[in-house]
Amino acid sequence: MFSFDHSAGFESVPAMYDTLVSQARSLFEGEPSHIANAANLAALVYHSVPDLNWAGFYFFDGSELVLGPFQGKIACVRIALGKGVCGTAAATGQAQRVPDVFAFPGHIACDAASRSEVVIPLFSGDKLIGVWDVDSPKPNRFTVEDKDGMQALCQVWLDACSSAA
Ligand code: SME
Repeated sequence: MFSFDHSAGFESVPAMYDTLVSQARSLFEGEPSHIANAANLAALVYHSVPDLNWAGFYFFDGSELVLGPFQGKIACVRIALGKGVCGTAAATGQAQRVPDVFAFPGHIACDAASRSEVVIPLFSGDKLIGVWDVDSPKPNRFTVEDKDGMQALCQVWLDACSSAA
């Protein structure tokens, strides 16, 4: 019987994200550099979550989103607020779960292989910090459990940033 395994051998997708959250907490413990922690989160997720072709950050520089630490192919460097999936997440403050990137108006194709995408907006209080973006070459790759898991991982990173401040 053919089936997708999106839980990387864990008993469930939430169990996989619980483990990743614990690993991220350990990785960030005592480390105040948000850049270093962002780089390690991208590497942790990219090499742990099945079927990704891109995972990483865009940071808000006060006017637009600028590429941050990531894993995957080279990506567009600057994205205006409101543009593409990333700019939409940043402008609306709403996580974006896109089953078919070709059906998303204004989607920005960095890696032509990408078919589905999740973008989590990153806020410290009401201040926009940036977005976390994951892409998959598989259509409809990301479930609500994936979006929730990514949000939990982003919160660990945000908590590490605020405890360093
Ligand atoms: N697809 C994104 C652009 C970033 S890349 O996927 C890394 C978007 O539409 O905003």
